[in-house]
Amino acid sequence: MGVVVVMPEANAAAGTLGAAAAQSGRYFGTAIAAGRLGDSTYTTIAGREFNMVTAENEMKPDATEPQRGQFNFSSSDQIYNWATQRGMKVRGHTLAWHAQQPGWMQSLSGSSLRQAMIDHINGVMAHYKGKLAYWDVVNEAFNEDGSRRQSNLQATGNDWIEVAFRTARTADPSVKLCYNDYNIENWSYGKTQGVYNMIRDFKSRGVPIDCVGLQTHFTGGSSLPSNFQTTLTSFASLGVDVALTEVDVTNASTTQYAGLTQACLNVPRCVGITVWGVRDSDSWRSSENPLLFDGGGNKKAAYTSVLNALNAAGPVTPSPTPSGGTGSPSPSATPGGAKRIIGAQSGRCIDVPNASQNNGTRVQLYDCNGQANQAWTLTSSKQLTVYGSKCLDAAGSGNASAVQIYSCNGQANQQWNVNSNGTITGVQSGRCLDVWGTGNGQQVQIYDCNGQANQRFSLN
Ligand code: XIL
Repeated sequence: MGVVVVMPEANAAAGTLGAAAAQSGRYFGTAIAAGRLGDSTYTTIAGREFNMVTAENEMKPDATEPQRGQFNFSSSDQIYNWATQRGMKVRGHTLAWHAQQPGWMQSLSGSSLRQAMIDHINGVMAHYKGKLAYWDVVNEAFNEDGSRRQSNLQATGNDWIEVAFRTARTADPSVKLCYNDYNIENWSYGKTQGVYNMIRDFKSRGVPIDCVGLQTHFTGGSSLPSNFQTTLTSFASLGVDVALTEVDVTNASTTQYAGLTQACLNVPRCVGITVWGVRDSDSWRSSENPLLFDGGGNKKAAYTSVLNALNAAGPVTPSPTPSGGTGSPSPSATPGGAKRIIGAQSGRCIDVPNASQNNGTRVQLYDCNGQANQAWTLTSSKQLTVYGSKCLDAAGSGNASAVQIYSCNGQANQQWNVNSNGTITGVQSGRCLDVWGTGNGQQVQIYDCNGQANQRFSLN
């Protein structure tokens, strides 16, 4: 009698947008402007709330190739470094677009413009090779009626978009390649159908494309259509990820913000949501007060409506892709039958930072995202391989030796026993794979086995 049973809280609500989205394997991002990184109110909010970053202007053609053949990554790297130092991922935006072209590109046409586009894609993607989660390869190529926009790029030939995607795939096979546009949220709209038909055609002909970004600017006269989820599902059923890439909403309507968030959560291949700025005062449409924080940096009602929707959806138990299934794979499943290595304490995945393929890159914990840098294969010779030819590798055999990736060499510091008690032990050291914390970016090492949850992992 009188005994109080304290149940562990099964559904502890996350307190930030990024953590709340991560519960269902998604991200929550923002556009960042390099010029605002000196504003501590801005960086405090952005660093706390988000786990994905898009450069608002700094990765566009005019910024990255101001003179033909002369690339400038000073502002884009500022944003890239700011984000990745905080464990955030980065979406590249954008490589081929009719707007924000440098002057020299605007004055080109025909085959020289086509070559300049290819050179631009190669130059920018080489700089960020292996470092980005997504690239908006082509931006805003359609008219409202679903026909192609008559830009200088379009005038180089109708195949310019597929040439851009093929060039991009070769330049960096590790990054997901997206087509990005606005006013493609309403399923019965001409432009939506035009983009849909292009993606369907690309998929049927093997043109490489991995994702569609719906800008989701519910500003400037647009608003949330009731069939938004149908649009997301329809694109996803073509075999691409979908994402909401530049969200803003006139006067930050709480119902529209909650509705667009819920639509994404309801679609397994909707991988994340990015808002187009931090505070209303940072917005490109600031007169519409369209963002989640007011000019003073305070959370608005729309913030709470989004956070609540995200929290109501998660957490989910990660599960592998059903083999042979026809449904959309979960955003947290890995490609190619490889497994995730999921920490029992953290729920996070063993991850190669920035999808680096460099020998000596130390692995970390990170929100599971189903990408190749979290996809491990246990071989019959006890190796845990990633990207095909890199192995999980102990940099030494003593306590706290780093665990990194390295070209597979058959040696014992690259062999692992996956044990029935949940530990993974190094064949050379006999020590356990171990992490000292649970957060994104926690580094992985080997340590004396101690039976605790920070040394237990599951492969699935
Ligand atoms: C906008 C930026 O927010 C502004 O700062 C800039 O002056 C113009 O571009 N679609 C896109 C984004 O893909 O790149 C645009 O960003 C907004 C519309």
